[in-house]
Amino acid sequence: MNILITGGTGLLGQRLVNYLLSKGMSPRLLSRREDLNATVPQFEWDIKNKKVDLNSLENVEVIIHLAGANVAEGRWTKRRKKEILESRIDSTQLLYDTIAKLEHKPTTLICASATGFYGLQNFDHTSSEDEKPGLDFLAQVCEQWEAEADRFKDLGLRIVKLRTGVVLDGSGGALQKMAQPIKYLIGAPLGSGKQYVPWIHWKDWCGAVDHLVKERALSGAFNLVAPQAVTNAQLTRLIAETIRKPLLLPNVPAFVLQLILGEMSSIVLRGHKVSSEKLEESGYRFEYKSASRALFELISQD
Ligand SMILES: NC(=O)c1ccc[n+]([C@@H]2O[C@H](COP(=O)([O-])OP(=O)(O)OC[C@H]3O[C@@H](n4cnc5c(N)ncnc54)[C@H](OP(=O)(O)O)[C@@H]3O)[C@@H](O)[C@H]2O)c1
Repeated sequence: MNILITGGTGLLGQRLVNYLLSKGMSPRLLSRREDLNATVPQFEWDIKNKKVDLNSLENVEVIIHLAGANVAEGRWTKRRKKEILESRIDSTQLLYDTIAKLEHKPTTLICASATGFYGLQNFDHTSSEDEKPGLDFLAQVCEQWEAEADRFKDLGLRIVKLRTGVVLDGSGGALQKMAQPIKYLIGAPLGSGKQYVPWIHWKDWCGAVDHLVKERALSGAFNLVAPQAVTNAQLTRLIAETIRKPLLLPNVPAFVLQLILGEMSSIVLRGHKVSSEKLEESGYRFEYKSASRALFELISQD
């Protein structure tokens, strides 16, 4: 199966590329940087100037759209927020306009989104896929991004939206940011520590995407989160236990994080439970249901 991945050079994209290759599929990338000689060819697109190398779409059955400016890099200034939103909306519109002109269209669009779609809820609230979007910045980004993805239905494509939680990966992302201070004995839970972290092991993330690619009757939004909910304090403690370091410091007060990170502090200070039921009922079997098992595997690979 030919699969085109946008944003495939990123943390999740690279994991997914290797996963799909190991399953005998043929991924190729659509990137801001061309490299046609790479083992997995990287075709170029220029989102601003609305240009796409059409060779990238030849015989492609599935598009997995992950591209977008990283939400956890840099303070959320007005300019950065514009980039976070526009990189997702403009790229999805460019894909739409390009595919609309194709005689042989792909059958499926799998588009990234995030559990941030549900917004800032009470810690004990559990979100499932039929819930309305929240009102904060990230929720609005997800809502608009998903709305752009939904337009592909007009072109006859099957649409799947990946409401991904925090992907745990030993080689980068949130886990590295949490584990690093713990290694140097300056780690601590953030804020009250009672906020939930809707997490998923990267292998389950890839497995779930593969499942959603193959099960052609499935469509709509799916939460990509593990079944076991853990709070920030529980996750911090589990990481410390797994790397055998003590937690010596009290919780980092919320106001300190708000001062350092500004509005972006909501990513780490807020969080509630997110249901994995729909994904499980669709037939996906998690390899890592518990955070302790996931962390043991991820950190022992380090
Ligand atoms: N990692 C997580 O825990 C997580 C959780 C929830 C949702 N997600 C979503 O899943 C997607 C993939 O996540 P990731 O962690 O792999 O992201 P990432 O490492 O930041 O990679 C995203 C990729 O998007 C492209 N990109 C970056 N800035 C861009 C811009 N301004 N305009 C257009 N393209 C740009 C880049 O590819 P090129 O340089 O090749 O163009 C980059 O490699 C993202 O949309 C993210 O929001 C991730």
